Amino acid sequence: MRGKPPTIRDVALRAGVSVASASNVVNGNRPVGAESRRRVLEAIEALGYRTNRVASALRSKSTRLVGMVVPDITNVFFASLVHGIETLAERDGYDLLLVSSSEDPEIERRRIEALVARRIDGLIVVPANDDSMVAFAAAERARLPPTILLDRAGAAPGFDTVTADCEAGGYAATRHLIGLGHREIALLTHSKHLRNISQRVAGYRRALAEAGLSEHERIVFGGHDLDGLRGAIELELHRADPATAIFAVTNVCALAAIKASRGLGLDIPADISIVGFDDFDWMLALRPYLTTVAQPIDEFASASWRLLMLRLRQGVSAEIERVELPCTLKVRESTGRVRANLLKTTDFVKN
Ligand code: RIB
Repeated sequence: MRGKPPTIRDVALRAGVSVASASNVVNGNRPVGAESRRRVLEAIEALGYRTNRVASALRSKSTRLVGMVVPDITNVFFASLVHGIETLAERDGYDLLLVSSSEDPEIERRRIEALVARRIDGLIVVPANDDSMVAFAAAERARLPPTILLDRAGAAPGFDTVTADCEAGGYAATRHLIGLGHREIALLTHSKHLRNISQRVAGYRRALAEAGLSEHERIVFGGHDLDGLRGAIELELHRADPATAIFAVTNVCALAAIKASRGLGLDIPADISIVGFDDFDWMLALRPYLTTVAQPIDEFASASWRLLMLRLRQGVSAEIERVELPCTLKVRESTGRVRANLLKTTDFVKN
């Protein structure tokens, strides 16, 4: 007959630690030394211990549930963020409830209401836009649990935020192209409003200005879907004086730029250089490998989780924290020196 399920006491006994230490490893309430933590995790595995999260929720008024809201779960960038956060939640004995806002502030509000109704302990949100959570908080702040805003809304009042230094990322991408001799650099974007996209545009403009190329600015707006972005950059490439390089400010924009260039029979980078933003396996799957600005996905997840755990222990009275993390330019094969004849054509048309 099956024995009683193992308890936290059995785990502590087998690991040779106190019940409090074993409980801290399971609940993540207090840090535990690496060796003790290792022994407790080993004992949990060996005994097949499973926390009774409902019972502990009733005792500790904690459900061990964290909600996470992303704008688009089909976008590999957001899926990577979710994976990073989920790994940390699992490590610390939390379950993650994931919902998507489909880039819509109204849907975002409804999804958060549903998460709050499930008595989540904490919330991590990649907002649908820079104002959506500020508007929500204006009406419902008291009902929100400790909440961290990630990737977007980096200046939202009243919230801890974790973002990337997108201005420096945009600057590095554009400087790289200018360093290869490009003067006609098109920036392809899907948004005219998002703060983290505007920062990438600002970095592009700073690099152009530094090189005396401000009047060469070419900002191409293609909307949110891949076909719209592809069509917009195709129009740019059909011009009499087409750009010789493209800075695509997101992973989706980069894909659109590649598809448009390939569709027009252009060689990357001989005919057109492309720098993307965001870094994923597919960018290293097909030649030429994409030069891109990588955002710090792992650090996004660890900084958000650290802040959330801190707020869960401290309570919401603490000062808010702004974490801004560096991006990394990864130079690969999709960027090359501008071809002399392309420069000649451009100069001829321009004069
Ligand atoms: O499509 C994903 C992009 O938008 C990323 O660059 C990320 O910053 C998000 O805001």
